[in-house]
Amino acid sequence: MRILAIESSCDESAAAVLDENRGLLAHELYSQIELHRAYGGVVPELASRDHVRKLLPLVRRALARAGTAPGDLSGVAYTAGPGLIGALLTGAALARSLAYALNLPAVAVHHLEGHLLAPLLEPDPPPFPHLALLVSGGHTQLIEVSAIGRYRILGDTRDDAAGEAFDKTAKLLGLPYPGGPELARLARHGAPGAFHFPRPMLDRPGLEFSFSGLKTAVLHALRGRELDATLKANVARAVEEAIVDTLAAKALRALESTGLATLVVSGGVSANQRLRETLAEAVGRRGGRVYYPRTEFCTDNAAMIAVAGLARLKAGERLGLDIAARAQWPIESLAPVASL
Ligand code: KG4
Ligand code: ZN
Repeated sequence: MRILAIESSCDESAAAVLDENRGLLAHELYSQIELHRAYGGVVPELASRDHVRKLLPLVRRALARAGTAPGDLSGVAYTAGPGLIGALLTGAALARSLAYALNLPAVAVHHLEGHLLAPLLEPDPPPFPHLALLVSGGHTQLIEVSAIGRYRILGDTRDDAAGEAFDKTAKLLGLPYPGGPELARLARHGAPGAFHFPRPMLDRPGLEFSFSGLKTAVLHALRGRELDATLKANVARAVEEAIVDTLAAKALRALESTGLATLVVSGGVSANQRLRETLAEAVGRRGGRVYYPRTEFCTDNAAMIAVAGLARLKAGERLGLDIAARAQWPIESLAPVASL
């Protein structure tokens, strides 16, 4: 089987071709970051309009690079949610129409399932069951993954997501959108111990997160001071440490309480180097192992949508003819899939 996958849930337009036996044949991506930068965040209507412009050329390029004619495909998968509804609908309309025109089945993919399954693209994929720490711009969740499609949320954020906390504090430091990677770059030059920000909810039992207090703590730290390069780097370092420590402590707590040894970290924030090092060391110490997607598949892409789509296509999932997309879509409501 060979699948074409399309991603358009937020500000990345992407297309990929995945073959059941030969693996990933091509993946193409266009990031709208420049388009949204002037506004300091994603403008949904601009995102939708740009997906309309970019998706079809990306699909053409992915098929050409994969040496794949439309007739070689077994199905078309697309991100059906959760995400920006207008952006999702552009991918849904394109994917559903292509599948109809080519007489192929269409498969709806849950964006977060894509993130969770992205490490399966690596040569040494994680075993099931495992614990997943899903950390993106919109989500911060600890999920027990017993099989593909069998997800149980153990902990969630009460307010801001980890990526959002990175982005919002980066904005306070005057860094361009999206601030996460920029803040991480600055943090490398920060002095250890110059600032210490709270690790929210660590003193309480449970696996819930809360990151909204970090913005206030940073605002207080900056008050009355001149925002020079040293101050920025020191604050960036302390912000990164606070977020990483909190994520790592809760992930370890979840490994303890479930008795699982394997941790999968995915979503945009899993590209963070300090998070990777901290988790690898802490999980390694208790005899477990951490798996990540390769860096380019941590943030939004279509290769991960192809993995989830192929699993669901093989399991016999088929969409009706309507163009379906959902801004909200609980991951626990997905149907389990026997095997990839
Ligand atoms: O998964 P993703 O591409 O999009 C969503 O589905 O949200 O995640 C984007 C988020 C942004 O908040 C971005 O700032 C953050 O991931 N991010 C990082 C790093 N790279 C991306 N945060 C911290 N350190 C990084 N290196
Ligand atoms: Zn994402």
